[in-house]
Amino acid sequence: MDGTKDVDMTQFLPGPGMERPYRDALGTFATGVTIVTAAAPDGPVAITVNSFASVSLSPALVLWSIDLGSDRCPLFRNATHSAIHVLGREQALLARHFAKNGRDFNGQDWSLSDMGVPLLAGCPARLECELVADHPGGDHRILVNQVLRVTRAPGEPLLFAGGAFGQVAPLV
Ligand SMILES: Cc1cc2nc3c(=O)[nH]c(=O)nc-3n(C[C@H](O)[C@H](O)[C@H](O)COP(=O)(O)O)c2cc1C
Repeated sequence: MDGTKDVDMTQFLPGPGMERPYRDALGTFATGVTIVTAAAPDGPVAITVNSFASVSLSPALVLWSIDLGSDRCPLFRNATHSAIHVLGREQALLARHFAKNGRDFNGQDWSLSDMGVPLLAGCPARLECELVADHPGGDHRILVNQVLRVTRAPGEPLLFAGGAFGQVAPLV
């Protein structure tokens, strides 16, 4: 049974001209949302990221990927340390803000860590990291980080699915 008799089913090969339906298909995979920060030579830099994933528990390794076409790509590849902030459900505007502009920290509640990494306040989880590997991944780079320190605070996660932000709605 290959499911081809499903009336509502569509099928396509990813490639030129199919970018939109391919992105839509990937958008059915709901994720959390993070903001990754680092110290660039000329000040703090941030980027909104949902490609975050845990890789290994021991050692504590996580990954995220960055678009080679982003101006911020060289800044994060050159930064030895960073902080990955898992966003809470009331932080969708912050996610939008750092998706648009990675250099504008005006009005944000932030400080520098002992490693010189910009830390945002008020996130349910924050992972202070050291970059340990930088792998090729098509039009992205896959940055693998060792987690050096974890900070927790109360809060429900912010979700991203189908191009929209949302929150967890428990099933019954
Ligand atoms: C919810 C969300 C998730 C995103 N995830 C990623 C990601 O994992 N990797 C990435 O490179 N960009 C991601 N982006 C895009 C960046 O946040 C940012 O918009 C993009 O780098 C802008 O291009 P620029 O850096 O050239 O200004 C995401 C944006 C949003 C809104």
